[in-house]
Amino acid sequence: MTPSYLQGDLAPVPDEIDVHDLTVEGLLPAELSGRYFRNGPNPLPGQDPGHWFAGPGMIHGVRLRDGRAEWYRNRWTRTTQFTGDARFLGPDGIDLTAISANTSVVRHSDRLFALVENGLPYEITPELGTVGACDFGGRLTTAMTAHPKEDPRTGELLFFGYGFFPPYLTYHRLSAGGELVESREIEVPGPTMMHDFAITENHVVWLDLPVVFDLEMTDHGIPYRWDDAYGARLGVMGRADGKTRWFDVDPCYVFHVGNAHEDALGRIVLDAIRYTPGSFQSVWERVGSGVDEVPGPGAAGNPERGATLHRWTLDARNGLAKEERLDDRAVEFPTISGARTGLSSRYLYTVTEKAIVKYDTETGANDVRETGGATGEAVFVPAEGERAEDDGWLMAVVTSKGDSALWVLDAGTLESVATVRLPRRVPTGFHGSWFADA
Ligand SMILES: [Fe+2]
Repeated sequence: MTPSYLQGDLAPVPDEIDVHDLTVEGLLPAELSGRYFRNGPNPLPGQDPGHWFAGPGMIHGVRLRDGRAEWYRNRWTRTTQFTGDARFLGPDGIDLTAISANTSVVRHSDRLFALVENGLPYEITPELGTVGACDFGGRLTTAMTAHPKEDPRTGELLFFGYGFFPPYLTYHRLSAGGELVESREIEVPGPTMMHDFAITENHVVWLDLPVVFDLEMTDHGIPYRWDDAYGARLGVMGRADGKTRWFDVDPCYVFHVGNAHEDALGRIVLDAIRYTPGSFQSVWERVGSGVDEVPGPGAAGNPERGATLHRWTLDARNGLAKEERLDDRAVEFPTISGARTGLSSRYLYTVTEKAIVKYDTETGANDVRETGGATGEAVFVPAEGERAEDDGWLMAVVTSKGDSALWVLDAGTLESVATVRLPRRVPTGFHGSWFADA
């Protein structure tokens, strides 16, 4: 039987293509000049990687310029796992270049990197060619998360790497110029799957949650399982002194952080998409076994099968963590304006089944835009000289009945601005990003 992650909206495409002059409905704003990239797993024809998350990464790119959609192209990232050049370093050794690079793309200091959390970043070109694995001049000796955070005030890129063996967790900081200037081991009790983290002006927030590495599961694609015994903690680390204070929280799992900030009382406020122990295990089983037609985070429309927007307020004065569910709807892939990363922000965009949901975290209101199809992460692109936090656009790939399009919405109203018809179906994948021309 064909596993679900090789079928329907998730089915991989068989090859790489280039198509020019795409059809656009509506009017693409001329200032949207740049590239939209969407990363995700795309197994080779005939290949079954054993898990949705394990397929080799393919990036789908759309070039917009001066009101036109100039091209679409898709490329696999040539990691050593993809090319067959992986080196095996012995029983404990892990080749950090033998990875899928299938999760996200970030730009820092004018370099583009395709990322996955179990290996080194792979530098790519603006045309989606692969330059190669990057260890920042030999300084990066751990994996790199697919969710680094650029501090909008300093231009630094903060990130971490986690691993199966000690050091289980390492914090890293790249200068605005792209130099790796700090690496610091963070003490945690064991190896967990840590997909994301948060930053604030003065702190880093760690998610030490009970999804643990299990050596006996290494034949199962992604060797992590829920462990009640591990406990659940959030850590608040001073960016200046590297000291971490831990807060016990109700057991849960978080793939994705929306944002965090320091409030007027100095408390850390973290908004993220939270799975209960039950909803995590149900989603994890479906993704791993590949037997359900809607696997994966974000695919479910009900909270028992998915995750919800949640707020933790961490108070260092009394060591207490306050928790609140902000909404009952099952959502995933939270995004914000990058200019607000680590600062207080009002708007948070998410996706749910066949819709985009915009939250106003100040009033608690939300606004839903139905798409009628499988909906990818909604990337916020600020307007030039933006007058409000939501003055800009949302870009998302929507796939319906085998046809994909890049939707451009007004982020303020969620009304359609333009739709770029893509020349082929883009399989449901992970993260999108927009890289404006310099
Ligand atoms: Fe992610």
